[in-house]
Amino acid sequence: MMRRLLSTTLAITTGCLLATGAVAQSDEDQIDYRQAVFTLVGANFGPMGDMAQGEIDYDAEQFARNAARVADLSRMAKEGFEGGPHDGDTDAKPAIWDEWDRFSEGMTHFETAAQELAEATEGGDRELADVQDRFMRVAESCQSCHDNYRDN
Ligand code: HEC
Repeated sequence: MMRRLLSTTLAITTGCLLATGAVAQSDEDQIDYRQAVFTLVGANFGPMGDMAQGEIDYDAEQFARNAARVADLSRMAKEGFEGGPHDGDTDAKPAIWDEWDRFSEGMTHFETAAQELAEATEGGDRELADVQDRFMRVAESCQSCHDNYRDN
């Protein structure tokens, strides 16, 4: 009984591991993956932008929580572009794969800026004025990549 339970668990675990290999994903899976990551990036970054622009009240704890999420998500985005271009319902421009090194640099820049913002907000007790520059650097990294590599 114990042994059967163990081997079932192993089979399930192995199945999950196989299913997460980014390289083996279909085009649709890759597109779905990166759009899901960026949907979450946008959902977390949007309220931060509204706070930074004074459209909603600044909440240091929420700002820090969202910044940490964006930093985590930023490290998940790039693999969704590997193995492309991908056929399907996507706004990703073919230039991404023609200029992969430059695109990768944009991703690295995004990851670094998001990480620095998360560190600057850590603790959830910072004044907006103290984190605004770092916020802007992340926002610029979104903007410049979208200008070059996303059909708007
Ligand atoms: C290095 C490039 C790059 C960076 C940096 C980047 N994006 Fe994107 N983003 C893209 C590309 C390319 C797409 C289109 C993906 C697709 O449709 O396959 C996209 C799509 C999106 C989408 C639409 C997702 C969907 O459901 O189709 C949102 C929202 C978004 N990005 C928000 C952001 C925000 C906010 C930031 C910064 C905090 C950011 N992105 C940083 C390249 C980037």
